[in-house]
Amino acid sequence: EKGKYPHYMLKEIFEQPESVKRAMQGRLDEEYATAHLGGLNMSTRELLEIEQVVIIGAGTSYYAGMLGAYMIENLARIPATTELSSEIRYRNPIVKRNTLYFAVSQSGETADTLYALRELKRKGGKVLGICNVVGSSIARESDGGVYIHSGPEIAVASTKAFTSQITAFYLFALLMARMRDLSFEDGLILLRGMKELPDRINAVLKQSEHIKHLAEKYSYARNFLFLGRGLNYPVALEGALKLKEVSYIHAEGYSAAEIKHGPIALINPDTPSMFIVPRDELRDKVITNMKEVKSRGGKVIALCTEGDNGVRQIADDTIEVPEVNRYLNPFLMVVPLQLFAYYMAIKLGRDVDQPRNLAKSVTVE
Ligand code: M6R
Repeated sequence: EKGKYPHYMLKEIFEQPESVKRAMQGRLDEEYATAHLGGLNMSTRELLEIEQVVIIGAGTSYYAGMLGAYMIENLARIPATTELSSEIRYRNPIVKRNTLYFAVSQSGETADTLYALRELKRKGGKVLGICNVVGSSIARESDGGVYIHSGPEIAVASTKAFTSQITAFYLFALLMARMRDLSFEDGLILLRGMKELPDRINAVLKQSEHIKHLAEKYSYARNFLFLGRGLNYPVALEGALKLKEVSYIHAEGYSAAEIKHGPIALINPDTPSMFIVPRDELRDKVITNMKEVKSRGGKVIALCTEGDNGVRQIADDTIEVPEVNRYLNPFLMVVPLQLFAYYMAIKLGRDVDQPRNLAKSVTVE
């Protein structure tokens, strides 16, 4: 089943051009520069009445939700936030009439998310699912939703589900934005950019040898920081989670701006930082944060846009990805982080597909 790949994790990382394509299949509408998501089971009128979106999930699905909230807010201008399933359930959540909830779960069986969904529904909340496994508990108990069609994800570390979950959110954000303020032209730019994603992801995958080499070079480190801002802040959190899970190296994800409020005290030559710094509106700010790390003796790997000389001059090493619409950077940025974690785990002799202490789906609270 793994075919030519030694591990499921690597196979699933390499499947992403196809799995992202499947998540978009039949859902993009060029004529109206919008998306169709039939499974939402909501009329256009009902969608128009939404005043707030709250997304719940755990682990990688939670980080996908963070990105989703950011996109919905940015593009559709609807207030959107993310909550950990395990927290919202016990917070006596306030459920309001025009709030739409999303429960994000690859397996559709995560107990924390399932129980939170039930609590929200009990209070009259409308909850949609973003699931991979068809017919799973969360998919069945939600009021509708979006299947991401990733195909089976076997490795404990989630990879292709993440890129498909965010695809689902981009589609939803596009749909909602085009009903509100986003122009046809701007909608089309995003939609066309999304269509090109499989090719761009392929270009990133071609750099796997370089990423493997970097993982080996930095395998001396016992601590790692992952730093990004804006849309790439959740990507930094996801990169840190991947490294922890499969390599057992201690890693923390932060907003690059936050390090000066404490974590910069950790910087030393043995604690490298992975900066996510695409060419976008926050690039210059992140470069300033990179300089702060360098001047304190920290090593910097920068994940940046192809040919960014400004970044090359500061970083010790770079991983460069093609230029895309600024909203789409997270798709290209997360792939090298998945590969980096994978190769690090291999270098350290870890059980990549079945890391210690972890199960694929966590069906206990
Ligand atoms: O099946 P789910 O998406 O609900 O799972 C949620 C988390 O348990 C899961 O994402 C976990 O964090 C992964 N092992 C991350 O790689």
